[in-house]
Amino acid sequence: MAAMHVTSSTAQSKPISAEAKIRFAKEVAKFPANQKQSAVMACLAIVQQELGYVSVESEQVVAEYLGMAPMAVHEVTTFYNMYNQHPCGKFKLNVCTNLPCQLRDGSKALQHLEGKLGIKMGETTADGLFTLQQSECLGACADSPVMLVNDRTMCSFMTNDKLDQLVDSLRGSASQSAKEQL
Ligand code: FES
Repeated sequence: MAAMHVTSSTAQSKPISAEAKIRFAKEVAKFPANQKQSAVMACLAIVQQELGYVSVESEQVVAEYLGMAPMAVHEVTTFYNMYNQHPCGKFKLNVCTNLPCQLRDGSKALQHLEGKLGIKMGETTADGLFTLQQSECLGACADSPVMLVNDRTMCSFMTNDKLDQLVDSLRGSASQSAKEQL
């Protein structure tokens, strides 16, 4: 299967909506007036919910809104795995490859997924379903190999069989929801 490798330089950034700006204001209101920069993570999450990723252009909008330097916003986007810096597949698979996990087959799990999906780490399948990434420690080293699906669902003790089952079931759920939309 061919892979897509979409980078921020090739992606067309959409503007942030007025509704998103209203949500920004609600987040900013949770902090004292002189600390509105504390809402930066929430604002970036809103951008990602709306656009699917956080482009450099979106970072500039957030920076201007919060009175921050664009680089300070970029540092937040790039520090946390949960922020996508380019469009991702429907399912983002983040496999931990930090040292404790590497000692317990974390890298092998990533390689197995590369083979199963026919893509390399950092790429997205041509059908737009899966993006494969490596991640920093997910705080569950004893459960290695571990991975996160779409930044929320932690999967532990991921043997090759379990990885295959996970991919097949996600693929099945995507095709089921596509049928329901017909
Ligand atoms: S090193 Fe992988 S969860 Fe901690």
